[in-house]
Amino acid sequence: MDVIVINGGKVLNGSVAASGAKNAALPLLFAALLAEGEHRFDNVPLLKDIETTELLLNHLNCETQRAGNRLKVTVNEPEELVAPYDIVRKMRASILCLGPLLARYGKAKVSLPGGCAIGSRPINLHIEPLRQLGAHIEIENGYVIAVAKKLVGNHIVFDFATVGGTENIMMAATLCRGTTVLENVAREPEIVDLARCLRSMGAQIEGAGTHVITIEGVDELKPARHSVIPDRIEAGTLLLAGAITGGDVKVTHCVPADLDALINKLADCGFAIETGQDWVRVKPCDRWRSVDVGTAPHPGFPTDLQAQFMALMTQANGTSVITERIFENRFMHVQELVRMGADITPKPQVAVVCGNQGGLSGAPVMATDLRASACLILAGLVAEGETVVSRIYHLDRGYENLEVKLASLGARIERRSV
Ligand code: EPZ
Repeated sequence: MDVIVINGGKVLNGSVAASGAKNAALPLLFAALLAEGEHRFDNVPLLKDIETTELLLNHLNCETQRAGNRLKVTVNEPEELVAPYDIVRKMRASILCLGPLLARYGKAKVSLPGGCAIGSRPINLHIEPLRQLGAHIEIENGYVIAVAKKLVGNHIVFDFATVGGTENIMMAATLCRGTTVLENVAREPEIVDLARCLRSMGAQIEGAGTHVITIEGVDELKPARHSVIPDRIEAGTLLLAGAITGGDVKVTHCVPADLDALINKLADCGFAIETGQDWVRVKPCDRWRSVDVGTAPHPGFPTDLQAQFMALMTQANGTSVITERIFENRFMHVQELVRMGADITPKPQVAVVCGNQGGLSGAPVMATDLRASACLILAGLVAEGETVVSRIYHLDRGYENLEVKLASLGARIERRSV
């Protein structure tokens, strides 16, 4: 088992490149199921979740070939249209194969993904809209069993701007008969990237990135040639690593506009931020102010940066109220930060962070989920002494060589097998 060991106190300085976005790459790879043939994707990050996706695609009779950050997916007609529990349980996003399989082959049997540390993660906002497109769906023995001779376009209003639900239905609607209008959809950059890829495959989609997406169904699509957008959450995590250590860090190969919510909050704290066409730079700040943060669907403050931003607030001057509005249990990192000496009072959906109650002290801590892992690493960068983060298989699901990138900025950080 691996752990990450950090000896805190080093100021990070320099330039580091963001990788491709995990949360864009996953739906893009499942979109390949909409068209048989050879799909080529660039800027695909080297992550555990991508490996799990390849496993599922292989199970569905696709061949995958990886060459660095390039991934070739050859889609053949699946022998069985089943996404089994032993793969789906490794990665909840596997549910994103449901819409494409149903639209392309008229049936699919996909294991329910189950919950995770941050919440129950229901999929009702995937299932109900598919029923509105004409699918007959039963839940039996832990599986979603869906059948649809031919999906038919409809006007669907989501109860909540669900990212995965928007993606699943958008993919399914590309092969519907007629027009589908989706309202109250997610507007994340990853949705826009998926729509861009689907259009390159021949889909007719308008409105991605706005509240309403309109899709004219087509008879068939062709294989994708697509480059994954940069990972805004990784880029934000790297910027916060510079900020929390009082350093000067430039993150390249990213999209500044996708980071507006974080950039605005860092500026409110008193950090000077510079941006260019494909880079963002955070400059040193001696004593940053506490600010309140509430997570929200894009373009609001991303829930995937909440834990990392909380680490920064433990060192801020004042009190910060952090409200988690997306997931019901995304404060698992709080207790670990408290063990490092942070002064945080967690309540349902809200955490009150009293900054500058003395620095953090290094400690053995346990990662509980992907972004909590990153939070604890950021805290370790600024803590006095040694921090050992265990269960970093969570980290490896969504960050490509994070410890290598931080070490290149001057951090005393390494991965050890124990
Ligand atoms: C995506 O998850 C991301 N994952 C998450 O990133 C991200 O935190 C989340 O969007 C919000 O931005 C991927 O893209 C692979 P949702 P998703 O559907 O699609 C409720 C990370 O760290 N909901 O927008 O599962 C749900 O319970 C991960 O990279 C329903 O009630 O998120 C949650 O409270 C974590 N019914 C809220 O909506 C549904 O059918 C947001 O979920 C679906 C969701």
